[in-house]
Amino acid sequence: MPELINPLRYPGAKRLLAGYIDALLEANHLYGCTFFEPYAGSAAVGLALLQREHIQKLVLCEKDILLYAFWECVFQHTNDLCNRIENTDVTIDTWKQYLPFREMVTLDQADLLDLAYAGLFFNRTNFSGILNANPIGGISQKSKYSIDCRFNKKKIIDVISQMSAYKDAVEVYCNDAIRFMKSQDARFMRESCFAYFDPPYYEKGPQIYRHYYKTSDHLELAEYVRNVHHLDWIISYDDAPFICGIYSKAGASYQPFFLDYTCASKKRTRGQELLISNLPLPPFPVANVV
Ligand SMILES: C[S@@+](CC[C@H](N)C(=O)[O-])C[C@H]1O[C@@H](n2cnc3c(N)ncnc32)[C@H](O)[C@@H]1O
Repeated sequence: MPELINPLRYPGAKRLLAGYIDALLEANHLYGCTFFEPYAGSAAVGLALLQREHIQKLVLCEKDILLYAFWECVFQHTNDLCNRIENTDVTIDTWKQYLPFREMVTLDQADLLDLAYAGLFFNRTNFSGILNANPIGGISQKSKYSIDCRFNKKKIIDVISQMSAYKDAVEVYCNDAIRFMKSQDARFMRESCFAYFDPPYYEKGPQIYRHYYKTSDHLELAEYVRNVHHLDWIISYDDAPFICGIYSKAGASYQPFFLDYTCASKKRTRGQELLISNLPLPPFPVANVV
């Protein structure tokens, strides 16, 4: 079956890393592992590996309640979510109607399905998929691009329905990534586990995510991976001197890589990012391997 497209158009999605991480798992005899993606976003890498059946279980954690709710409903309330997509008009009135869900900070403030739909809706109708941004075409909708230009209901419903076939292999949690990973310690002893950490960008995180990292949070992640046992891991980051500085002492291996674009830049240029791992990292291919 051809690989499914992702229902989210997420800023910083790492779909183009799936082939590289796949090869890393194979080289280190990690096929069949439990794959953790604790900064899930669109979970682009984990979902690709799951569809290739190279991992046994995908464990997603995401702090943003709109994204968490979306993934939870994709796998646990598929029909309800698809019905909501089918039966809701993609208009500026709906955008305004869902705005209160964007203000909520805890899951108990609203129905899970409302939060899930709000996450999908803002992702697919806002500028660059940024949840807190304005709608494509502006509030006045006077541009040649209209709010629904990236919202193909049929395609989104099809992909969600097909993804839900993997529901028994996916766990979704709403938590802080490091707190969550610490709670999974016992599991690392029992199962073969691998974690892909894709924290908010060091430099542009505050512009694109509703939850982003302060310097102390980046340091905490470095401290966590330095001390974790029985877990192999890889981290992707923007190539900032501060990040290189904190990991250079950790005995980790590094590899620069290039994705097709730089998030939040006006022009789509190729931006350099960084991979860091406790495993030896082969060079990143010049042509992206998907
Ligand atoms: C760079 S994006 C991940 C993109 C993802 N790899 C993909 O392919 O779409 C970082 C994600 O981390 C989430 N996040 C921010 N702070 C977090 C935290 N403390 N714990 C868990 N997730 C967090 C953001 O909401 C965002 O979705």
